[in-house]
Amino acid sequence: MTRSIEPVAAVGTAPERVDGRAKVAGKAPYAYEHPVERPAYAHPIQATIPAGRIRRIDTGRALAVSGVHTVLTPDNAPPLRRGQDGELEILQDADVAFRGQIIGCVVADTPEAARHAADLVAVDYERRDHDVTLTSDRSDLYRPGVVNPSYETDTEDGDVDAALAGAAARVDAEYRTARNHNNPLEPHTTVAVWDADGLTLHDSTQGVHSLRSVVAGMFDLDESRIRVLAPYVGGGFGSKGTAHAHVVLAALAAKRMSGRPVKLALTRQQTFTLAGYRTPTVQRVALGADTDGRIDALAVDVVEQTSRIKEFAEQTGVPSRTMYAARHRRTTHRMAALDVPVPSWMRAPGVCPGMFGPEVAMDELAERCGLDPIELRLRNEPDRDPETGKPYSTRNLAECLRVGARRSGWDGRPAEPRQTRRGEWWVGTGVASSTYPVHHSPGSAARIERGVDGRYHVSVGAVDIGTGAWTVLGQIAADALGVDRGDVVVTVGDTALPFASVAGGSSGTANWGSAIVAAAHGFRARFGDDDPPAGSEHTESAPENPDTERFAMHAFGAQFAEVHVSADTGEIRVPRLLGVFAAGRIVNPRLARSQFLGGMTMGLSMALHEDGVMDERLGMVVNHDLAEYHVATNADVPSVEAEWIDEHDPHVNAMGTKGIGEIGIVGTAAAVANAAYHATGVRVRDLPVTADRFLTA
Ligand code: MOS
Repeated sequence: MTRSIEPVAAVGTAPERVDGRAKVAGKAPYAYEHPVERPAYAHPIQATIPAGRIRRIDTGRALAVSGVHTVLTPDNAPPLRRGQDGELEILQDADVAFRGQIIGCVVADTPEAARHAADLVAVDYERRDHDVTLTSDRSDLYRPGVVNPSYETDTEDGDVDAALAGAAARVDAEYRTARNHNNPLEPHTTVAVWDADGLTLHDSTQGVHSLRSVVAGMFDLDESRIRVLAPYVGGGFGSKGTAHAHVVLAALAAKRMSGRPVKLALTRQQTFTLAGYRTPTVQRVALGADTDGRIDALAVDVVEQTSRIKEFAEQTGVPSRTMYAARHRRTTHRMAALDVPVPSWMRAPGVCPGMFGPEVAMDELAERCGLDPIELRLRNEPDRDPETGKPYSTRNLAECLRVGARRSGWDGRPAEPRQTRRGEWWVGTGVASSTYPVHHSPGSAARIERGVDGRYHVSVGAVDIGTGAWTVLGQIAADALGVDRGDVVVTVGDTALPFASVAGGSSGTANWGSAIVAAAHGFRARFGDDDPPAGSEHTESAPENPDTERFAMHAFGAQFAEVHVSADTGEIRVPRLLGVFAAGRIVNPRLARSQFLGGMTMGLSMALHEDGVMDERLGMVVNHDLAEYHVATNADVPSVEAEWIDEHDPHVNAMGTKGIGEIGIVGTAAAVANAAYHATGVRVRDLPVTADRFLTA
């Protein structure tokens, strides 16, 4: 067990965001708004074919536009180090790997001139046939080496096919999730300044240190010559967790402008192509159980896509490995490399899509076994992690299901589907489980310094992407130092501060908080608690936690949906969502609730709306903006409630926190699809759940 902190005064209370007032007052500048001297503006030029190569680029008309300084193309761009990352190695050759790929950039005095001139660049292409169609029976599917970030691609225990063949009750079906796009309110932007000291990037990123290391690699620069700042970020969901090509483009443009700062903002449409997206998935899920509903065989075989220039293998089969007990178990992942943009992280990569198929399949199995879906889940609770055999540090899924059942009024629910009609509307309820692993990344450090103002200044290169991390780190620091929260000042978002892991994998609070606790304990050991003098300073890294090897560590949850489906039009509404979570200690209930609600709302959006529609002739997603790609708004979400159980986990880290940024989106879509079935008797196995499904049935 790690040395833990006791919540003295701050942890567990619900202060407002420390950056809240600045944000609502417009005084929290995002990257693009960072004031720089005489900025120039860069606008990307994008490929207008889905596959082939550039024969010739004519920049004459663009260069003639007033205010245009330069047009970067593969003919004249500064060199980058090759062989590291095909997404980032832009303008290094004439190949086109997907429609919308960056093939150049105009730099001008105004964004308008740059954008106008970019349209005037004439490109002569040599096209080749493109292929953007994901099917599960392609002959060229391949097995990736690992799935994101480093999980085994395939697992097998026992003889799954034989166990399925002999099972008394069986579900064997194909489930699909749609191509989803991250749409943080703040689009992806970079301000790059290249001077004698090196490169400074004001970037909308989830990780200043991780971004710096990638950019250093691309430009063959020592990390000490790059500084990345991101004090305020307007959402990321994973799309700002890895570097994308526009960051490199801004740095290339700034290099060319030798000293003059360059600002680059992707348009909303460009973010659909250049900021990563969630691959569509095809999931063959098979469950075999005895007549009591005890699962003996479980198989999840996944097919998904990646780009030709960079592999991203979503870990869709991974969550099923830890969810339910079964003697015979299999997961596989197969990929198609297509002429498509590079997929990447989107809130709970792998886990979110990977809990759709299995959690709908559980609903189907419950029906076959004549069991309540909650009872089926309770009967299949493992006492140890089925994959590793390790004990869970804590596993409170059953408690979440029970509490949620009580709160949602589950007991009065008709067992059969299509039983409740209120006027025009069929009414139903559904449940699904949530899970998310507790990720640990080593190396985060924190510095604590007593200031001349008497306060404790805590520095860590973390990024608050809207989660409230900034605020909760102050709460953790206050309790670890044994001082009032008001005596703590936290600074984040700068590579000049101690190293911090990326704000991803729901691990920020755990990693950075552990560093802060270690630094605080070190500070107190050195300087005592009796009014240490100004200037007292101590930096320390988060310690290794041996318990991460001994235990399986996951957060769990249960989500309940009420769904209404119009008997006349098939319109589907979700008047109520309820989530109950077990995610360790909750540091700040106000901000935690906001994380859960945000995740569930995004899950509802995935369930009902989000679908990047690929036009196979053009090789592009046609609904690439917020007018056509619908993201759930207030009107779609009448009531979302999030609760949690009081979970104490002494093993996960010093604070006892498990991470809450992603689990809220996991399971929501399955709960909605299951409730839609309960309302109508129509089983929807591919997302999104749209009105047409109910009209044909
Ligand atoms: Mo999150 S998709 O791990 O940034």
